[in-house]
Order: sequence, then structure tokens, then C-alpha cells
Amino acid sequence: MKIIDGKKVSIEVLDEIKSSVENRAKNSLKIPHLAAILVGDDGPSQTYVNSKIKACDRVGFKSSLFKYNDSISEQDLISEIQKVNNNDDIDGFIVQLPLPKKINQEKILSQVDPHKDVDGFHPINYGKMALGLDTFLPATPAGIIELIKRSKIQTEGKKCLVIGRSQIVGRPISILLSQSKVFGNSTVTVAHSKTINLKELCIDSDLIISAIGSPEFIKGNMIKKGSTIIDVGITRVDDSSSNKGYRIVGDVDLNSVSDSVGYITPVPGGVGPMTIAMLLQNTLKACSLSD
Ligand code: GUN
Repeated sequence: MKIIDGKKVSIEVLDEIKSSVENRAKNSLKIPHLAAILVGDDGPSQTYVNSKIKACDRVGFKSSLFKYNDSISEQDLISEIQKVNNNDDIDGFIVQLPLPKKINQEKILSQVDPHKDVDGFHPINYGKMALGLDTFLPATPAGIIELIKRSKIQTEGKKCLVIGRSQIVGRPISILLSQSKVFGNSTVTVAHSKTINLKELCIDSDLIISAIGSPEFIKGNMIKKGSTIIDVGITRVDDSSSNKGYRIVGDVDLNSVSDSVGYITPVPGGVGPMTIAMLLQNTLKACSLSD
């Protein structure tokens, strides 16, 4: 079993971004500025947004956090988004998901200026991604592709199973891995809650991308020997022995698969840090495009 160290690779990417920022500063170019909009008090969302802001400091970006109570109306949230769209100092921003249920997520995401949409969730950018055009790729799928690239894992002609069809991870990674590109060209199957033969699909796969949030669901007897598993699941499970009262668990039972898996991303320290690095890479791109 080889561990794909997402933390280490993310530091490489962040260091590259930091040098670009230093070069921009030397050339009197604008310092990238990322903003995050956070609605409500969901614990994991607060943690993710804080990590994104902390990463901005590390690479020398400016950052802003706009927090709203979950009682904010859809219309008021749209007005706040328009303010960020019109703020010339902000190069890119994200609306942290999930949003409170009463707010229409699609409506909100379509309000983000596509030029500042560093999450790549606006229908224009999502459509460009599906067409294989240059755009802001959603950060988690982009992070997965970057991990695969830098670990030199071959995808061409491989059978790839994506478990989960979310707009943030499953759907876009299934599109990217099947595209006619280096580190694409896979034969992709998408499994979801209505799939009936998941175990058979897993055993038949060379590469599994699991993004369902079912703690330690994938066991050793479900996978092909030597296969690669990218574990996107991040679930908090109660753990009284930890100071926080919980621990973070992925979709894969690492002990159970350790004898048969080829490469695997750990949780934490796998895909999570890469998501943040790719968000910052998109922000640098947004800033450079407006030079
Ligand atoms: N919630 C979970 N992942 C993401 C992400 O990549 N972007 C945003 N905006 N919200 C998320």
C-alpha cells in the first residue's frame, strides 16, 4: 500500500502559488484577494472556511470572510453577492456550501460573477468544464486530478468507478476522468444511491473515487488487488478519546484495504488539503486574468 500524501503535495502547490505572488509583488502587480461567504453556523463549514483563509495568509493572498446568520433572506444574500461582484479589489470568491435549506442554492450560485467564480459552480463555468474548455475547475475534482498527476498514476484505459454524483465532486470528477486528456481517458462508471451492484462494480475497478460520506464503508473484500482509491469522504464520528469529542473518518476502512490496495489517499491529509490548494490556484488565475 502506498499512501498518496495530499498534505505534502498541497504544500508543493501552495509554495508554487507563493512564489507567483512574490513575483507579482516584485512586478507591482495586484496581490490576489479571495473572499468567502459563510451562511449559518455549520461546524464543518466554519472549519473549512477558516482553513481556506489560513491558506491565503500562507501564500501571501489577501482574504475576506463575510459571515451571515442563517436567518438571512435569499434576496439579501443575493444583494451581498452583488456587492462582492462589484468590489474591484476581490478577484475571486466562494459561497460555502451547504446553504440553509430555505435558500435556493442554484439561484445563489448563478448570481456569482463567472469571472470571480473560483469554485467553478456557475452554470457558465460548469458548462465550460463539461465541454473541456479553459475555466475554473471545481476545487475538489481539480485537486484529485492534480494528486493523480503528481503521483504519476495512469488513468488511460483504466476502469474508474466514481461513487457519488454530487455537483461538487462526483459529477465533475466523472466528466474530467472521461475527457480526452492526459490523466483522463478512463472508462468511467458513476455509482449512486440507486446503484444495486456496488460491490461488483468496486471489485472490477482499477481506480475508485469515493465521495459518499459513509464512514469506513469500503472494505478490503470489495476491491481489486493493486487498485487506487481516492477517498473524498470526510465524516465526523463521535470519539470520546479525542479532545474535540470526534474524529474525522473517510469512506474507506484503511486497515481493511491495506493488504490489497495499490495507492490510497488518507483521511485526513489526502484530498482535503488539495481542495484548498486548488481554490487558491483558481484565485491566482482569476487575478492574473484581470491584469
Ligand atoms: N462545501 C464542500 N465543498 C465545497 C467546495 O468545494 N466549495 C464550496 N463553496 N463549498 C463546499
